[in-house]
Amino acid sequence: AMIDKGNHRHFMLKEIYEQPVVVAQTLGSYLRPLEGRVSLPVPEFDLAGIRRVTIVACGTSYYAGMVAKYWIERFARVPVEIDVASEFRYRAPVLEEGGLALFVSQSGETADTLAALRHAREGGQKIAVVVNVPTSTMAREADLLLPTHAGPEIGVASTKAFTCQLAVLAAFAVNLARDKGRLSAEEERRIVRHLAEAPAAINAALAYDDAIEAMAGSIAQARDVLYLGRGPDYPLALEGALKLKEISYIHAEGYAAGEMKHGPIALIDEHVPVIVLAPSGPLFEKTISNMHEVQARGGKVVLISDYDGIAEAGDDCLATITMPKVHPLIAPIVYAIPVQLLAYHVAVVKGTDVDQPRNLAKSVTVE
Ligand code: G6P
Repeated sequence: AMIDKGNHRHFMLKEIYEQPVVVAQTLGSYLRPLEGRVSLPVPEFDLAGIRRVTIVACGTSYYAGMVAKYWIERFARVPVEIDVASEFRYRAPVLEEGGLALFVSQSGETADTLAALRHAREGGQKIAVVVNVPTSTMAREADLLLPTHAGPEIGVASTKAFTCQLAVLAAFAVNLARDKGRLSAEEERRIVRHLAEAPAAINAALAYDDAIEAMAGSIAQARDVLYLGRGPDYPLALEGALKLKEISYIHAEGYAAGEMKHGPIALIDEHVPVIVLAPSGPLFEKTISNMHEVQARGGKVVLISDYDGIAEAGDDCLATITMPKVHPLIAPIVYAIPVQLLAYHVAVVKGTDVDQPRNLAKSVTVE
């Protein structure tokens, strides 16, 4: 069928706005909310026997995989390694028995990721894939196929595929944790309840679209933009910087907030906007103290946090973006929305080709 932009100016904006629905669809195929359980398709191998997970992907899918590392290690207590696909194969990775290699790809066709999958297979790994195209090559070559249900994604810069990947990866982490005996039925029920809240929280996050549009003009003037986050929101900082680079052509870097003092703080002056992702939770105070280090050097901060976080730390910021208050587990899914919208509106201000940015392809089928 023909896909059009509906009432939206760009496919990217349409796809951003589809997220409450497609994330709900995706969660719907992995959660059983009434039973308070997660249920994955039954793999051709025993998940409980998995001793190690290796995650491999490219681009935005790689950042989804990075969030999954935090979740899998926290819940399932299984060590996770993660690599970009173009590095994985050529660094002689150590692939041991009991290893699961997990590939994340919107298209299921990215050449580097596919080559890495075949390399992992030769190395005796079980193969799981999180893909958005269920008929893709990666889907066919998997022992465990975990589809996202984002629907076709047209914008070159990935948005809805990313949040759907996160939804699937969260379900995977919980299922692995349960099968390994690391999660009680009560804990699983609690997590399922939080995950089921994600679509409504995404919806609430979308309500800040106008506020984000209003600040896009000032960010569009910057030559460099820094994104900071901690824990599972650190990959979101990386994703925010990637989105901005891809479609607005502004140089941007994502950094673990605590690492900033080891380098990028040297860049800070009043011309460098710093986007701080800081949901309330166990890492909030630490992130805010890094934010204060930026402000003490004249840096202009855009703080993305929830109502409590903004009440506590929003005063001296250039701007704030208020997110719904969510459990730290689902924060990466919800905080994806403002970083996507910010990149989108900055690109519109700059007048770039949002859906087809220069030099980029939707699916990269050469190594
Ligand atoms: C290209 C696209 C990105 C995407 C990456 C990985 O670079 O422009 O949006 O994240 O490929 O693609 P995949 O289909 O494997 O997720």
